[in-house]
Amino acid sequence: MFKNPTELPAWKALEAHYQKIQNQHLRDLFAQDPTRGERLTAEADGLFLDYSKNRLTDETLKLLLDLAREAGVAEHREKMFSGERINTTENRAVLHTALRAPGDAEVLVDGENVVPEVHAVLDRMAAFSDRVRSGEWLGYTGKRIRTVVNIGIGGSDLGPVMAYEALRAYSDRNITCKFVSNVDGTDFAEAVHGLNPEETLFVVSSKTFTTIETLTNAHTAREWLLKGLKDEAAVAKHFVAVSTNAGEVSKFGIDTNNMFGFWDWVGGRYSMDSAIGLSLMIAIGPDNFRDMLAGFHAMDRHFRTAPLQSNLPVLMGLIGVWYNNFFGAESVAILPYDQYLARFSAYLQQLDMESNGKYVRFDGQVVNYQTGPIVWGQPGTNGQHAFYQLIHQGTKLIPADFIGFAQSLNPSGRHHDLLMANFFAQTEALAFGKTSDEVAAEGISGSLVQHKTFEGNRPTNTLIAQKLTPFVLGQLIALYEHKVFVQGVIWDINSFDQWGVELGKVLANRITPELEAAGMPELKHDSSTNHLIRLYRQLR
Ligand code: F6P
Repeated sequence: MFKNPTELPAWKALEAHYQKIQNQHLRDLFAQDPTRGERLTAEADGLFLDYSKNRLTDETLKLLLDLAREAGVAEHREKMFSGERINTTENRAVLHTALRAPGDAEVLVDGENVVPEVHAVLDRMAAFSDRVRSGEWLGYTGKRIRTVVNIGIGGSDLGPVMAYEALRAYSDRNITCKFVSNVDGTDFAEAVHGLNPEETLFVVSSKTFTTIETLTNAHTAREWLLKGLKDEAAVAKHFVAVSTNAGEVSKFGIDTNNMFGFWDWVGGRYSMDSAIGLSLMIAIGPDNFRDMLAGFHAMDRHFRTAPLQSNLPVLMGLIGVWYNNFFGAESVAILPYDQYLARFSAYLQQLDMESNGKYVRFDGQVVNYQTGPIVWGQPGTNGQHAFYQLIHQGTKLIPADFIGFAQSLNPSGRHHDLLMANFFAQTEALAFGKTSDEVAAEGISGSLVQHKTFEGNRPTNTLIAQKLTPFVLGQLIALYEHKVFVQGVIWDINSFDQWGVELGKVLANRITPELEAAGMPELKHDSSTNHLIRLYRQLR
């Protein structure tokens, strides 16, 4: 059942094929086939993918699809959707797809249909959100809630904050959401600066409710609230919790009637469409939230049913493997041409890097091939004036995903056409470059010709939808979730655990008392860590 992908026939065929086509230029591939730009495209419910500007031929695609088949992508996909415990190191099912299943669907976990529970929580969230939005839910002194502060970190922060930014145009502007994640006290201090506790609601979001950053911030928030309102009874009106851990929530002092639950089969970085999205739902309202879930579900359906060769997550996953494992690309840039998606690449960093940043295969063997890439990026056009130089003329191959929309949510004069002109121009320039002959024909001579030459052949995917709506955002997130899944299957790694973040947590817990001790404690670390701790104690 376990397999080393490099031993699969398709992998070996791809290695040989790579030797043949590694230097083929996109200029030639496009010249050989005038229909390439229309042919190498796919669509899922109004979300369009153009993957023609990738360094691949029909033969490459065929071999990549063979790889998907030999690696068992379709079988693993079914295991995930049907609730098998594919997160083997934590013995858990992986069912974020159940979070957006329609009410009449059936998804069984240990023989029990979880969809009714999912919808019961969604209904409670909707009722609560409506009460806050309408002003029916009041603070302790009878004032309306004006600011919602989500306290959470990692998957309990990055999703809500990204989606709040992304869907701001759909939000009630009478309510502002803030997000506190860092244990650095500055984060909390700046978030509540100028806020009135009487009008502030804290949503403490933590799957485990044991995360030190979140609990520390939640305790500080409580002190801040009580300093203003001077009555313990106020906590019930100003704190709600989102968690799978009712015991810890009540230990903290939040009434479990004000708790919104989810389940251990939802991974933290796959949880923004669970109750973890409560702050988002308060901001955009239940209807928009449900539209977003419909977008997620549409992509789930597409991933589950579309043939592999026209399946967006499969294609993007395979193309990523092609660059990662055959061209030796180390990173992927995510470049949305929409200011509302400013936090999208930060969100995808956790989704992708915490999922596929693993060097151990399912069977415990260490891999002898590359796994998850470094994910990075920021919106265009800003990035063009920062790091695109390296993508165009640097020595590293950086495959990039360009994401754009036909309509702006803030139409204003020429802005959108200028934005999109840059969007198209960049992928064109990256693919086709500018030859030295073209530069010379402009009257340039000497070594300047080389400086002004763009070799091109830099691969990109282009994703386009009509407009950034809650539905489209849901589609986009699910697209990347499933892309990460496809790659995890091919690399034979568990994309759903995150043991790699544990060691740092354990060591921090060991060091904290050494920083807090009154006198200098005996330090038993390496000489560098000992020295740094002493220095810190001296300087503070
Ligand atoms: O960073 C590790 C991690 O466990 C993430 O996977 C998770 O999203 C984050 O910490 C926060 O965890 P919790 O929601 O339990 O506070």
